[in-house]
Amino acid sequence: MTEAELYTVYKGVFLPSHLHPAESLKYYEDFTFRSDDILIVTYPKSGTTWMQEIVPLIVSERDFTPVMTVPNWDRAPWLEEHRAITLNLEQRPSPRIFATHYHCQMMNESYFKVKPRVLYVMRNPKDVFTSSFPYYEMASFLVNPGTQDEFMEKFLDGKVMFGSWFDHVKGWLNAEEHILYVFYEEMIADLKGSLEKIAQYLGKSLSPDLIEKIADHCVFKNMKQNKMSNYSLVPEEFMNQTKSEFMRKGIAGDWKNHFTEAQEQRFNSVYKDKTKDVKFKFVWD
Ligand code: A3P
Repeated sequence: MTEAELYTVYKGVFLPSHLHPAESLKYYEDFTFRSDDILIVTYPKSGTTWMQEIVPLIVSERDFTPVMTVPNWDRAPWLEEHRAITLNLEQRPSPRIFATHYHCQMMNESYFKVKPRVLYVMRNPKDVFTSSFPYYEMASFLVNPGTQDEFMEKFLDGKVMFGSWFDHVKGWLNAEEHILYVFYEEMIADLKGSLEKIAQYLGKSLSPDLIEKIADHCVFKNMKQNKMSNYSLVPEEFMNQTKSEFMRKGIAGDWKNHFTEAQEQRFNSVYKDKTKDVKFKFVWD
């Protein structure tokens, strides 16, 4: 199916219509944040699911029940998804944990007024691309990616769900709100150190023993077994994990196994141009 059939254009970006009907977008527009809300913000395939596991564990301290019994999309729901409307989020006790893939400039009025806490997770766009390609092949609510060359042009041009990676990252890096920037690559290299940093940002002082326990639970091979987080609860007609698993490889630098030399050059030249005005130092540069 085509973009016109599967996507809605909202504030200039493609959103899969199946997940984001008009009433969900309106719900988010009217949503009221609290200052102690915790918002996980990511461009898709940058580590959202990982954070939806980590943040509830840090917040609930010793209690692993939520991550073992509640699917990630309910324990840290996306505010732009249809499910958000049904979850009675207004009644949830603080601190509420949410996720969003919105660009900064798409955020609602309440967000800019209340300034909730934001964890912005970034990942090397080459790995975001590498993770996205099989995902677009296995998810029925996304437009088939075509060949890797074709999908690369769409990705670099932002003609994919949630638009351009470059615009997303640049928008959030320029945001003035209180944000903790987290790199996927840093979490891979030093998960315990990242957990400490995130806990500190959330005002939690966790014992080394608990950090160790959370890290062990969240390491790729263990988290992959958690049915509440590995998307195995999603019917095959929406996500066909026999084609590609959602928890695919969970590594940094997998793009090197997939890019041809020409693709690497093409990606580098667009990347160089589109990030020339960015002062922030990316760990992968
Ligand atoms: P890969 O496809 O490269 O394996 P998102 O949740 O933002 O959609 O991102 C999905 C990516 O994060 C997938 O990348 C997935 O495997 C990876 N991921 C999820 N949990 C992870 C974990 N515990 N450790 C490392 N990577 C993880």
